[in-house]
Amino acid sequence: MSYKDEINMDKLPKHIAIIMDGNGRWAKKRLLPRKMGHKAGAKTLEDLTRAADKLGIKHLTVYAFSTENWKRSEEEISGIMDLLRNYLNGYIDKSDKENIKMDVIGEKSALDIDIQEKIKIIENLSAEKTGLNLHIALNYGGRDDILRCVKKIAQKVADGEVTPNDITEEMISDSLDTGFYPDPELVIRTSGEERISNFLLWQIAYSEFVFNNKLWPDYTEEDLYKDICYYQNRDRRFGGR
Ligand code: IPE
Ligand code: IPE
Ligand code: MG
Repeated sequence: MSYKDEINMDKLPKHIAIIMDGNGRWAKKRLLPRKMGHKAGAKTLEDLTRAADKLGIKHLTVYAFSTENWKRSEEEISGIMDLLRNYLNGYIDKSDKENIKMDVIGEKSALDIDIQEKIKIIENLSAEKTGLNLHIALNYGGRDDILRCVKKIAQKVADGEVTPNDITEEMISDSLDTGFYPDPELVIRTSGEERISNFLLWQIAYSEFVFNNKLWPDYTEEDLYKDICYYQNRDRRFGGR
């Protein structure tokens, strides 16, 4: 039996956000360098993206590198960035065979120039596709997202385009990095940690959370189906009765 058969296809979340946590602990358990955990995590991401696309999920946002992750050792950061290069090259190489769209949210200007260039290439290739939208959060922080959004709106006020009274929740939503797609109905965090770690902050006002104990490299398609089933059994009240 697969949890896939239990999923109510009429109530599929349009947007799932995942905090892919536990790569370091996965490597440690195997006495491997942390980089190997990130490598295994990148493979899991590829498998899960395909599964989510097949299932019919429209948006998948994955937390790959936070604004706080710069606190890690130079060795670990450069290892992650090298894996990212490979991952982006893999997308470019396989692009004609895949229908998945990819873009990046977060403050891209702090990333190495060659990575920024690859992201641009990928966003152009993606424009032609119709499958799942994979949004990779890179140098992303929820507070930084809100800060950049406030600056954009403040600039509009300064330019006389809007007055403070014209500012609406919708305008704020639209000015965030995620402005062009819906808020996540479901947020999944792996590795047993139960915190948000500065991921989407404004966008999760009414999201359901599922905390899965598996380390990210061990997370499988079947885990995703199971977590979607958990979500579908929740009673979402949105403040009503
Ligand atoms: C998540 O795994 C990946 C990144 C934050 C880049 P971690 O590297 O945080 O793994 P743990 O939490 O140390 O096990
Ligand atoms: C959150 O995980 C960031 C990513 C998964 C990219 P962390 O491992 O960085 O978060 P903390 O330090 O446990 O809060
Ligand atoms: Mg972690």
